[in-house]
Amino acid sequence: MEQYAIKGGNPLVGEVEIGGAKNAALPILAASVMTDETVYIENMPDVRDTNVLLSAMENIGVIVKRTDRHKVTLNASNISELVVEDENIKKIRASYYLIGALLGKYKHAEVALPGGCDIGCRAIDQHIKGFRALGADVKIEHGLIKTQAEHLRGSHIYMDVVSVGATINIMMAAVMAEGTTIIENSAKGAGTDVIRIKGVSHLHGTEYAVIPDQIEAGTFMFAAAVTKGDVTVKNVIPKHLESITAKLLEIGCEVEEADDCIRVVASKPLKHTQVKTLPYPGFPTDMQPQITVALGLSKGTSIVTESIFENRFKYVDELTRMGASIKVEGNTAIIDGVSRYTGANISAPDLRAGAALVLAAMSAEGFSTVDDIRYIERGYEDFHLKLQGLGAQIELIETERDLQKFKLKIG
Ligand code: EPU
Repeated sequence: MEQYAIKGGNPLVGEVEIGGAKNAALPILAASVMTDETVYIENMPDVRDTNVLLSAMENIGVIVKRTDRHKVTLNASNISELVVEDENIKKIRASYYLIGALLGKYKHAEVALPGGCDIGCRAIDQHIKGFRALGADVKIEHGLIKTQAEHLRGSHIYMDVVSVGATINIMMAAVMAEGTTIIENSAKGAGTDVIRIKGVSHLHGTEYAVIPDQIEAGTFMFAAAVTKGDVTVKNVIPKHLESITAKLLEIGCEVEEADDCIRVVASKPLKHTQVKTLPYPGFPTDMQPQITVALGLSKGTSIVTESIFENRFKYVDELTRMGASIKVEGNTAIIDGVSRYTGANISAPDLRAGAALVLAAMSAEGFSTVDDIRYIERGYEDFHLKLQGLGAQIELIETERDLQKFKLKIG
């Protein structure tokens, strides 16, 4: 079984290139089935979740060509199947984007119910509410969401919770509905929570570059904080990182911004703070474990409140085994900073928590191993290689012998 072997204690120093955002790439891939013309996508991250979606799309007849590691062309003029039941597709959350895309274009879709990281009850009632409002029948049978419509008609939809996935999914169906759709209380990616869509009868091909991954960038920015390092994240949009930058400044890091890069220097002891996760532009839930790892090493008592997913503190047990002093009460973690973590054998419980535990291991005294790294590979491309590039002592290992070799090499 693959694991990371890590010897902690090195400050991370240097520059790291940030890839395209997984969570932006996934709906863009799904949306490309909505046109019969070719779509060219650049800055596509080469991570497990995007690859699983691409292979499910190939299985229903989309012609997928990877022209290089980060470029893909897609042509969906010969879709042969509107039932997406791929064995792997159940494992990713974003499978649900194919429902909105296929429903919009073909007025029919049957897609295996979504999986994804186990971070809380991940309802899809808002997606279903939106499809129904547009005139579709929706039922869940035999593990599939089945949806069908004679015609889709524009509608006025008020979302009960702010949901990234439901907003995107309803937008995809609505762009091919007759008339106008208004989505209120939507996720604020476009800077507003009211989205108006005038439906069209067909869509054409395009070229598109996926935006930089703010969570990958934020993870490396916090890697600088927890290892007392000096890291520059390159190819980022600083505006998308404002909530993360603000917290790094609050806890005592220095942050320098340029057009498309940010440097984080952690030369002073970290300070405590309070943080609550919120929908964008608030502090992202996908950065909650990483900031908790940093606050675990900060002077004083910090409070982290998770307001998006109710089960996102599972990693705290692992962090406690590394010496952290954290008490979780409901959706709040009360953190008493300690002066250092100590290495341990730990498991990644999900994608972001897995990455955060790797940061903890890099700051810790001594050796750690992190297993279940398949979760981390869902969303971080070449994670250990990028960390090595910053001077981290981390290696991908498979056997006890590899671990012994790593220990001998590192000393
Ligand atoms: N919700 C409902 N009903 C719905 C949809 C959502 O009650 O129909 C609730 C959820 O239970 C949750 C909240 O609304 O409490 C927000 O969920 P949202 O729909 O926004 O999440 P998502 O679309 O399932 C995406 C990302 C997550 C990220 C959240 C942030 C993808 C594939 N996933 O999930 O990313 O945490 O938005 O809101 O884009 C990750 O990358 O590690 C990850 C988990």
